Amino acid sequence: MKGLTTLLMLMASMLTVVSAEARPIEIKFSHVVAENTPKGQMALKFKELAEQRLPGKVEVKIYPNSQLYTDSAVLQALQLGDVEIAAPALSKFQKYNSQLQVFDLPFLFDDMAAVDRFQKSPEGQKLLNSMTSKMLVGLGYLHNGMKQLSSNDPIRVPADIAGKKFRIMTSDVLQAQYEAVHAIPLKKPFSEVFTLLQTRAIDGQESPWSNTYASKFFEVQDYVTETNHGLLDYLVVTSAEFWYGLPDDVRDTLKKSMEEAITYGNQIAATQSQEDRQRIIDSGKTKVIEITAEERQQWVNAMKPVWKMFEDEIGADLIDAAIQSNEL
Ligand code: LMR
Repeated sequence: MKGLTTLLMLMASMLTVVSAEARPIEIKFSHVVAENTPKGQMALKFKELAEQRLPGKVEVKIYPNSQLYTDSAVLQALQLGDVEIAAPALSKFQKYNSQLQVFDLPFLFDDMAAVDRFQKSPEGQKLLNSMTSKMLVGLGYLHNGMKQLSSNDPIRVPADIAGKKFRIMTSDVLQAQYEAVHAIPLKKPFSEVFTLLQTRAIDGQESPWSNTYASKFFEVQDYVTETNHGLLDYLVVTSAEFWYGLPDDVRDTLKKSMEEAITYGNQIAATQSQEDRQRIIDSGKTKVIEITAEERQQWVNAMKPVWKMFEDEIGADLIDAAIQSNEL
């Protein structure tokens, strides 16, 4: 009888091991934007590739639209092991590495090709891997695009936004950028922006075309001014504990899948920006304002002193390297 009980217990424990081994590794990927954006599409592509290449071994669960976490909460959740992948805007990392603030400096990059060159340069790659001591592993940069200003009022020059409230991401550089033009910046989570605009609690916001379109900000703003004054790109991150705890073959396959998903997301970013701009114009709900070279220069003159304010934190060499990326 004792022998039978021991045998049954042994079989039960073997079954537990088998079912534990058979259970796929769950990978929660949390982000704050809609699925019809470069980041939303990249996340879906990553799920498709990872599950196709590791059938039964991994399950990728995507939580878009801040369903699970806001960006300020998600990095902590990563460190605590509550979520495995996130892709916050570069502007959200200042408390983990203040050098990443370089990406927020206004009018630093001429275009997305320059951004791409800088991200691929030795300096850019070093930044990607600069937060391992905080248990954050960079898996890659992902593009969205250059930001525009949307507002209830027509904006052409810096004086037009003096005294106006603008939502910004949690970035001190962005705060300084608005203070430089005497506007009132408010650090708010992305999930609150639509309601803040709709209720007129704020006057405007800054986003790339894809976010202004996908999150319907254009429906509650009368004007979008094409300033291209700054960048909104992402850092795809995972936690060191999760990443290095994976079996080598799984990690290699996930890494490759993520690289391909990022390439796919970047292709979408390159085309979607202009398509969403056109969709906003075609909606007739908001007017797109194109500024002249002289008006643009007024913005540059007013905002560029911000570079000097953050030079010590970011490093003059790093700012120089970013400037160099504008030159072919
Ligand atoms: C924002 O907060 O405006 C952005 O980070 C949203 C996003 O992820 O594109």
